[in-house]
Amino acid sequence: MSALEVQIENMLNASLAVPMRVAVATAILEPSALTTAEQAKFGELARTARAKSWLMGRAALKGLLNKIGRDPDTAELAFPNKELSLSHSGELAIAVFSDSKFVSGVGVDVEFVRIVKPGTARFFLVEHEQTYIFALPDSERSIELLRLWTVKESLFKADINNNGRGLKNYTALDPKSLSGKASIGDNNSEFCYASVQLDSLVISGALNMVN
Ligand SMILES: CC(C)(COP(=O)(O)OP(=O)(O)OC[C@H]1O[C@@H](n2cnc3c(N)ncnc32)[C@H](O)[C@@H]1OP(=O)(O)O)[C@@H](O)C(=O)NCCC(=O)NCCS
Repeated sequence: MSALEVQIENMLNASLAVPMRVAVATAILEPSALTTAEQAKFGELARTARAKSWLMGRAALKGLLNKIGRDPDTAELAFPNKELSLSHSGELAIAVFSDSKFVSGVGVDVEFVRIVKPGTARFFLVEHEQTYIFALPDSERSIELLRLWTVKESLFKADINNNGRGLKNYTALDPKSLSGKASIGDNNSEFCYASVQLDSLVISGALNMVN
């Protein structure tokens, strides 16, 4: 297991209190290593901008499926997914897994550190989250915006009923907290999340808890 996998897995296990497995890919899966069913899927996007990230994602997913002793053919996987989630950014993909009976959906999101403009806040943060962001010193605002972006994306992915929902539907109860509870508006679905910065990466994981 790579050092990065260990760090992410330890962070998620410690903060979310549910056993999780993690696989990181830093190179694409060569198309020749795809199964016949995967090649059929890849054929639809081979010449698109998504091709490289999709192959990077398949490398992470296959690494994870091998690690947990499951069939590494990813062709039948659909997202959102109760047990698995995937995120790619640049030359990296992260896949996470949990089959805890307390969990009804799993999410992960990764971003490379970059400048995020304050004006983006209104597109994905609700009022109390924006209040937190705009009370921060200028020097901390961009990285916290990026972290909350990954939190929201991971929550969205962990919601297996996310069709038709947007990032503003998901609310971190205490946005300054690196890990904690989150919810969807007036829905009584309970989520928890955890986020971390590791060098130039910001990573969040989220779980939708069984009611
Ligand atoms: C679909 C979405 C979650 C992808 O996130 P992203 O940051 O662009 O890309 P990531 O690399 O982190 O994640 C991509 C992976 O998420 C997974 N995914 C795709 N749609 C998904 C969904 N509806 N739910 C859960 N996971 C999903 C897939 O595995 C995908 O990788 P693949 O195509 O290689 O299989 C994102 O585009 C989205 O729709 N976000 C929320 C909607 C929203 O409010 N957007 C506007 C905000 S202002």
